[in-house]
Amino acid sequence: ESPQLTPFEIFFKEIEKFSKLHIKDRDRVQEILQSMQKAGSKTLQVISDFDMTLTRFEYNGKRCPTCHNILERSDAISSDCKKKLQELLDKYYPIEIDSTLSVEEKLPLMVEWWTKAHELLVNQKIKKAGLAKAVKDSEAKLRDGYQYFFDHLNEHSIPLLIFSAGIGDILEEVIRQTEVFHPNVKVISNYMDFDESGVLKAFKGELIHIYNKKEGALLNTGHFQELRTRTNVLLLGDSLGDLNMADGVQDMENILKIGFLNDKVEERKQSYLDSYDIVLIKDETLDVPNAVIRFLT
Ligand code: TMP
Ligand code: MG
Repeated sequence: ESPQLTPFEIFFKEIEKFSKLHIKDRDRVQEILQSMQKAGSKTLQVISDFDMTLTRFEYNGKRCPTCHNILERSDAISSDCKKKLQELLDKYYPIEIDSTLSVEEKLPLMVEWWTKAHELLVNQKIKKAGLAKAVKDSEAKLRDGYQYFFDHLNEHSIPLLIFSAGIGDILEEVIRQTEVFHPNVKVISNYMDFDESGVLKAFKGELIHIYNKKEGALLNTGHFQELRTRTNVLLLGDSLGDLNMADGVQDMENILKIGFLNDKVEERKQSYLDSYDIVLIKDETLDVPNAVIRFLT
């Protein structure tokens, strides 16, 4: 038996240490990663969800906010509106994570959630100038290891697409304030439309909710056209809807999907293992994605 380990074996030994890591088919992961490594980092692009994927789900036993929650909890919103948004969350979030409902059953309800929430926000006359403070005052937190993740991808000129059903203006502010909004980052999300006095009047373009990321991807062909030589994809998500974020990628050769399973673990574990190559259960770090990036660069 040879004591000489291959680069993949060394890498795998490193990630195996993480007790939160679950893989259904190790050979498949090995095949994908070796093929991606062979092709080189010039062929790599990263596509990631934002809320509860790049940001933490929990911190010190307390839930962390999504982009929408950051606004909701800020002083840009009246207490009456806060109450209504909370009622929407209480009604629709359990539906979002309900493993007994199909995507077809959930889809109209998710559209309803986003539509109602955005309507409430537009009625609040939110000022563009107040968004930075809302983020600054919030408890939003990127996952541990975010610095390496963002910096390393930028240093290697690997494009990072953040594809979010949250709010683009808020998301950008979060990564700006943490100083990781590097030039390799592109965001596809719901952006606010302000009137000439800087007051929110609507949301721009087509609504992105958790189950139409496929359509969102196909509307952004220009972006994927620019990246057409990057045929290998690392995808990070926390919802099964995130699996469609790479549907716009042209001439895709390999895709490695890493999924964060944050909530309702027992009910959803099998479906996550079936759809994501690597599943991270209640892991608040980016350690495994970082190990993958290190291996590929
Ligand atoms: P993501 O695509 O970046 O993960 O963003 C979607 C998340 O936003 C999803 O998990 C639900 C959450 N959300 C809220 O927290 N409040 C809301 O009002 C809405 C519409 C969505
Ligand atoms: Mg998410």
